[in-house]
Amino acid sequence: MQDQTLWIYSLRVDGLTEADVAPWRSGLDAGEIARADRFMFPNSRIEFTAAHALARWALGEALGVDRRAFSFIPGAHGKPDAWLGDKPAPVSFNLTHTKGIVAVAVSTAPDLALGVDFEALDRNVDLKVADSYFGPREVAWLMACPDDDKPEGFLRLWTLKEAFIKATGKGLTQNLASFGFEVEVERIYFTEDIPDDPALWSFQQRLIDDRFLGAVGWRRPESGDLRPIWRAVAPDDLTTN
Ligand SMILES: CC(C)(COP(=O)(O)OP(=O)(O)OC[C@H]1O[C@@H](n2cnc3c(N)ncnc32)[C@H](O)[C@@H]1OP(=O)(O)O)[C@@H](O)C(=O)NCCC(=O)NCCS
Repeated sequence: MQDQTLWIYSLRVDGLTEADVAPWRSGLDAGEIARADRFMFPNSRIEFTAAHALARWALGEALGVDRRAFSFIPGAHGKPDAWLGDKPAPVSFNLTHTKGIVAVAVSTAPDLALGVDFEALDRNVDLKVADSYFGPREVAWLMACPDDDKPEGFLRLWTLKEAFIKATGKGLTQNLASFGFEVEVERIYFTEDIPDDPALWSFQQRLIDDRFLGAVGWRRPESGDLRPIWRAVAPDDLTTN
């Protein structure tokens, strides 16, 4: 059994203009361009375009295939899979876009439960709604954090929980009370509603440039485990391959 690499690529977009991302549009398909153009605000168009350009670049790098060759087909709850022609591409990926940064997790382990979420640390956090998203043990951990650390603690829990519901692909149809996290050790636990072994799940969290928080989660593939490598990508990198 050999470990495979899990790449988590991030790309800062807070300094980019629409003119900067315009060349990437030619690498997207008609559906992606139409979706990008439907956003009312330029920042949303930039984030969407950058995330999809980064995803195609990352998939192309992983498989040595032209990035324009991929198409994306959503699963039951909207999680897209990458396809090459009429076959699923032998790769797993998930993408996230948020204010100022986009990221993609990708591995050549196919059919992998893989989820990634990034959030900006300056995002508005309302601690009063913690109960609506987090279970009692998670809320107790959060409330035990020093006051100054609570907003970041909230986002640490949030990104981990998002990484899991994105890995399963169930999104918000997954009951948020049916699982929780021990944040310090990046470990998940399940209630009886999820008959799965938490030991098969791995999570990692990273602070990026002291401004963003990223979390990735995956269920161990049968062929071994994954070796995660986090890498910041520069806009110029996307013009190669
Ligand atoms: C849709 C959802 C999967 C992610 O939403 P999000 O955090 O707003 O968005 P992100 O930027 O992290 O991810 C969006 C991308 O994930 C992918 N995606 C869409 N549905 C998905 C699903 N069911 N599972 C995994 N990935 C999915 C898509 O690629 C999407 O990007 P695209 O629309 O540009 O193709 C879902 O988790 C959600 O609606 N969350 C809302 C926030 C919330 O209440 N979270 C509770 C946390 S405790």
